[in-house]
Amino acid sequence: MCGIFGYIGDKNCVPILIGGLKKLEYRGYDSAGICVADGCRLTVVKKRGKIADLEGSLRLKKIIGTIGIAHTRWATHGEPNEVNAHPHTDCCGKIAIVHNGIIENYAPLKKLLEQEGHKIVSQTDSEVLAHLIEKFYAGDLEKAVIQALKIVDGAFGLAALHENEDRIVVARRGSPLIVGIGKNEMLISSDAAALLNHTKKAVYMADNEVASVTKNGYIIKHLNGGRLAAKKVDKIKWAAAQVEKGDFAHFMLKEIYEQPETIENALRGRIKHGRIKLSIELNVSTVRRIIITACGTSWHSALLGKYIIESLASIPVEVDYASEFRYRSPLIKRDDLVVAISQSGETADTLGAIREAKEKFAKTLGIINTVGSSIARDVDSGIYLHAGPEIGVASTKAFTSQVAVLILFALYLRQARGGALDKNIIGELCGVPQKIRHILENTSGIKSIAQRFKNSPNFLYLGRGVNFPVALEGALKLKEVSYIHAEGYPAAEMKHGPIALIDKKMPVVFLATEDRFLNKILSNIHEVKARGGIIIAVANGNGSKKVRRLAEHIITVPSTLKSELSPIINVIPLQLIAYYIANAKGINMDKPRNLAKSVTVE
Ligand code: G6P
Repeated sequence: MCGIFGYIGDKNCVPILIGGLKKLEYRGYDSAGICVADGCRLTVVKKRGKIADLEGSLRLKKIIGTIGIAHTRWATHGEPNEVNAHPHTDCCGKIAIVHNGIIENYAPLKKLLEQEGHKIVSQTDSEVLAHLIEKFYAGDLEKAVIQALKIVDGAFGLAALHENEDRIVVARRGSPLIVGIGKNEMLISSDAAALLNHTKKAVYMADNEVASVTKNGYIIKHLNGGRLAAKKVDKIKWAAAQVEKGDFAHFMLKEIYEQPETIENALRGRIKHGRIKLSIELNVSTVRRIIITACGTSWHSALLGKYIIESLASIPVEVDYASEFRYRSPLIKRDDLVVAISQSGETADTLGAIREAKEKFAKTLGIINTVGSSIARDVDSGIYLHAGPEIGVASTKAFTSQVAVLILFALYLRQARGGALDKNIIGELCGVPQKIRHILENTSGIKSIAQRFKNSPNFLYLGRGVNFPVALEGALKLKEVSYIHAEGYPAAEMKHGPIALIDKKMPVVFLATEDRFLNKILSNIHEVKARGGIIIAVANGNGSKKVRRLAEHIITVPSTLKSELSPIINVIPLQLIAYYIANAKGINMDKPRNLAKSVTVE
């Protein structure tokens, strides 16, 4: 969703704010703005479009100041334009705020404020915050923020400035906010990755906390009681180079190519002498049922988790979209384990699902990439992916790391319940990164398929068993970055509807790698061919000979003996097809239209 950045120190904050916004741009990119305090007054500059557009208009103005807040927006209320862009100010332009989240009761608050004479100029829910702070301001910004937030319903990550005060006041409920500690300077950010050019020392704010940040320190209090909050300073483990594109044209491509390494990182130190070592602080031996909840690509990992855990650990698994799970009064028992999968650890619905599970006394576990994120803090225990920051909006390396961790987790469950581990699967898992390298070194066939089909309006992706979630993920990747309509289906379901769509123009991507379903998949390929569809098949081993006879285009991938591992390998060409089609269409796939990397609103 939106990204917030702030600076207070001795330097001119303008280039620092722009640098911070560029690192956060993947959180939202429809408009952006900054507010700078120069000791006398506040100056606000906003622009519709990308950060580069804002930077261009700032070049024409000579703005200097040592305190500032900035925002990159993903619109919820009000179209993306300059008026609706943040920062928003009060009636006199003395107070400015940037906000991430949704103010649910903004309509009655707006009415009340207008009755009191406030002039609200935008269509956003956020602007009421600036006016509420104005209403309560009596010489102390922190107090006014606390009073304002007492009557606000909804989620916020908020940063506020007053022209007469040398501090930034920030507050959080539901949307992430981190205070970065520098030398004679402090920073505010929605996300740790954006702080790396300045500091690795970070304080993660918790829900219902407010902080008053000056250049030499910060005081964090509870919003509800004013008590001081005890906070620990964390060290951000990522390196600054990890949030740069390096020699790659796009983050998405960089992250696809990082996968051999990120999977190695997910496995590192977790397999010792044929046993699985996970530092899970939960007794999993008594778990009767596992419910996995997630959104987007992480939900596809969750679906794979069902196949993998049921097959390797013989524990029943249910999978639910987090948004559905949290609101349908799920029947949860104390001996259920509820697992949340999330790259960002901030997805509002997934966080809500975990809170629902905790209220019903289930044990909770997170499979999360972002250390210190909200979900990571809320769950009883967790397994980090260690995939490094994922910047490309379409998730790639987080997906394969999630699946690798789910395999480890399934083996861990089996081990904890006295089951013997199959040495072959562990050996095969460790060999997966090398197999991915092989695909990444041989992409010419994939590039020509992308070139050939870049103008197709529709795609179908079909697979069976563990390759069904891979089909869903392949279709989602294509939709997200190339804007081509694509559907993923279990191959056997094709006959119940999608087959009606097949004609001579329809490319159908089959996951046709060797497993117990290959003959059935070959029959499905025949069914598509009989109706003129164009077959693109991902195949391997001896099976590829049979597939080659039927498919117009074939992508061969390395084989695995264990079908549970094949999704990690088979998804790679599908990620590359999506990337190269988007690239051929001239789309910036790192920032696809309408999408946001981290969805912190419901
Ligand atoms: C957004 C992103 C997706 C992501 C989903 C879930 O929709 O664009 O790439 O899969 O959120 O995000 P999470 O951080 O919870 O995995």
